[in-house]
Formats: sequence, structure tokens, C-alpha cells
Amino acid sequence: MIFAATAQRAVGFVILAIVVIGFVLWFFANLRAGREEVGSEIELAANRKPYLSDEELEGKKLNAALFSALGLLAITAVVLPLYWLAEPGRQEGAVKVFDETFVRRGLDIYENGAQCVNCHGGAGVGGVANFIVNDQNGQFVAQVNWIAPALNNVLYRYDEDQVRYILNYGRPGTPMAAWGADGGGPLTTQQINNVIDYLWSVQVTQKDMRETVEKFVAGIDPALAERVAEVNRSNADVTTEGGDVEPVNANRLSREDELKLGEILFNNQSLAAGSYSCGRCHVAGATYGKAWQPFERLQYGAFGPSLVGVEREATEQQHFKLVWEGMNSGKLYFSRKQGNPQMPGFGVNRNTGKADKGVPDKGPSGQLTAAEVWAIITYERNLSNDSTVKSPVAGTSESPTFAGVVQPAENQ
Ligand code: HEC
Ligand code: HEC
Repeated sequence: MIFAATAQRAVGFVILAIVVIGFVLWFFANLRAGREEVGSEIELAANRKPYLSDEELEGKKLNAALFSALGLLAITAVVLPLYWLAEPGRQEGAVKVFDETFVRRGLDIYENGAQCVNCHGGAGVGGVANFIVNDQNGQFVAQVNWIAPALNNVLYRYDEDQVRYILNYGRPGTPMAAWGADGGGPLTTQQINNVIDYLWSVQVTQKDMRETVEKFVAGIDPALAERVAEVNRSNADVTTEGGDVEPVNANRLSREDELKLGEILFNNQSLAAGSYSCGRCHVAGATYGKAWQPFERLQYGAFGPSLVGVEREATEQQHFKLVWEGMNSGKLYFSRKQGNPQMPGFGVNRNTGKADKGVPDKGPSGQLTAAEVWAIITYERNLSNDSTVKSPVAGTSESPTFAGVVQPAENQ
């Protein structure tokens, strides 16, 4: 393509030179022909000028005209295919330049325009938001450090439209405001798209995600981490890795290990700012260090429902499928419920296989392996028997919902 482009440019210059020189020659030739007639109108009016003889016209003149036409035709015939050859390269280049421009604009919004960076950290590594929680009557309840999840992996757990939805409408009841015009925020549709382009540019690789989880578990329980790594290796045949085994049928840890690993993964808020955890959405207060500890004057909950008692809501297989794939807007899950499209999928990369729609494809796997998701499922289905859990049973009238109001600490 580079060769074609240079060749094309060379041909372009040659043609330009021919045209310019030709024009100059024609101009001077004309000027000279004109001069002959200066002051001669009286003896020889222009319309009385004797014209060329038939011999001259049909010989030299005609040949010259025909040859120059042929020459032009030849040039057109050569240049058109050349241009054609170079076109895909030119278009690719143009798309790339566009992409880079969009990413740059997105970065500017992320760091300056909307200051996502203040809460979510540089390049989306995750951070914290200092916030005031008020009760329903506007009474001060507490000042908290609310974890803002890492965004450099967000396009593995959510598809692009889900991220767009979150950016447009925010998370009511949390520090995450509505940013898009659709939700009453300050950013245009184009700017929201630019932010998403920027988020694409900072997504970590699948390998990074694996290492992040493995290192984290090893830091807590090295022996457990080794057993997890072994089971993960034995699952190379799972469909997301390119094999034929359904993830739901993957090899699993012992029940004892599943409870341990599930506890770690479900609750941890320190791994990539809670972006691998479930507790940040499913345990009231977990995002600001008060898991399972309700404030006295505030009936509060988390963004997702309490999962205590979930074993009565669904079979193990249904439960696994939901956590593996996440929720799709308007689709039923647990055979009777309608999904809130903000429950992420942890096993599959929700943006994979959409390259034809222009969505980047970073590989089939999501943030967690089948064995890890199974561990979380086992832990969740045991919450009712867990003495560390102080939460009403899901689906009962005591099940907490967020009724507080949050605002930036500096506004107080
Ligand atoms: C004032 C702090 C703050 C700012 C500014 C902010 N966010 Fe957030 N954001 C949060 C918090 C806190 C959460 C988690 C809310 C929760 O607990 O559910 C969040 C959640 C999100 C999520 C959902 C991630 C997930 O996995 O749940 C996305 C995506 C996101 N923010 C993107 C952005 C972008 C892009 C910007 C800038 C346009 C931005 N945020 C600005 C604090 C902030
Ligand atoms: C960003 C927030 C968020 C995170 C993180 C999250 N969930 Fe959810 N989850 C939700 C929401 C919201 C719902 C409710 C969907 C609905 O019913 O509309 C939900 C629903 C569920 C349900 C169905 C509960 C029921 O009884 O209907 C299960 C099970 C579940 N999540 C498991 C998990 C697991 C396991 C993880 C961690 C691997 C997790 N979730 C992480 C937001 C989240």
C-alpha cells in the first residue's frame, strides 16, 4: 500500500507537470499567434483569415489531436486503477486518524471536561469518591469514601451499549452522576461516544486480568491460589478458551475451596477498586467499607438486590448462567424475572464477536474463569448459613433498598 501510494503520488506529479508545461506552451503559442494579427484587422479581418488547407487539416493536425487524445486516455487508464489500488489504504488510514482523534477527545473529557479521573483514576485504574450520605430528609448521616470501580476492564463485563447507558443515566443513589444529555447530563452523544472510544484504548488484556486475579488470591492464600491455577489449567477445553466443554460443565474446586475462593472474590473491594467483586453491588455498604452494617437512621441498600437466599430463587445452573453471561435488557432470567441490564457478565467478554459492527474484539473471555464463577455461586448459595452475613433475606419486605441521597463532600 505504501508503494502504491508513493507510485500514485509520483504519477500525480508527472501529470501535473505535463498539464502545467502544456498550458504554458499553449499560452505562449497562442500569444504569438495573436501577435501576428495585431493592427492587421483593417487589411485582414479575423473572419477573413485564410484557414488551413485540407491536406494540413487531415494530416498533421488530425494526427496530433488523435495522438494527444490517445495519450490522455492512456494516462486515465493507468491512473484510475492505481488510485483504486491505493484507496483501501487511504480509507484505513483515514479511519485510524479518526480513531486517534476520538480517543484524544475522549481522554480530554475523561481528564478535564468531566473529570472522571478524579474518581476512577488515571487510565481507569479505579479510585475513590469522597461523599456525603444524607437520609431521606436531607439529614447528614455520614461522610464516606465510596469506591469508584476500575474502568480499564469495564468493556469485558459490560457491552458497549450498557456502558453507554451507565454514562448517560449514571447510578442514582451513588456518586456516579448522569453524564449524557439523555439523562440530563452535560455531555453530548458524540462526547459520550468519544469517552467510550477512550475507554477502549485503556482496556487491559485478557492475560493481565488473569494475572491480576491470580496474584490477588495468592497474596491472601498461596496454597489455594495454586489449586485454583491447576483447575483453571485443566479447563483449557471450555468454550470461551476455544474448546467444546460448556462452561457450566467445567472442572471445579472442592466445596471447601469454593467457599474460600468465593468469599475472597465476592467481597474484596481492594482488587482493581472492587471491579471484580459482587459485594459492591450486592452488599449494602460494601462500597464504602461498611459491609453488612446498616446506618441507624438510614434504610439503605446496594445497587443490586441482597443475594441472601438466592438458592431458593434459582437452580445452580441458572445461577451460573446468569453470572457467567450477565443480563440483557428485557430478557427473562431465572425463568421469570426481567433483567436490569446493569448486572454485569463475568465469564464471557460481552463485546466479542461483534467486529462486523465495528466493536473491538479483545478475545472471548471475561474477567473470571468458570472455576472462579462456580466458587462464587457456591459461596452465594451458602450466605443464608453464613454467620458473618447480617442482611435480611432477599425478596422479603425487609430487603433493603437505597433511600439515601449522596453528594460531593466539598459541597457541604
Ligand atoms: C464523583 C466521582 C465520579 C465521577 C466524576 C465519575 N464517576 Fe463513574 N462511578 C463513580 C462511582 C462511585 C461508581 C460506582 C457506583 C456504584 O457503587 O454502583 C461509578 C461507576 C461507573 C461506571 C460503572 C462501572 C461498573 O462496573 O459498575 C462507569 C462505566 C463509570 N462510572 C464511568 C465514568 C465516566 C466515563 C466518568 C466521566 C464521564 C465518570 N464515571 C465519572 C464515581 C464517579
Ligand atoms: C455493577 C453492579 C453489580 C455487580 C458488580 C454485580 N451485580 Fe449481580 N445484579 C446487579 C443488579 C442491578 C441485579 C438486579 C437485576 C434485576 O433483577 O433487575 C443483579 C442481580 C443478580 C442476581 C439475581 C438475584 C435475584 O435473586 O434476582 C444474582 C444471582 C447476581 N446478581 C449475582 C452476582 C454475582 C455473583 C456477582 C459477582 C460475580 C454480581 N452479581 C455482581 C448488579 C450487579
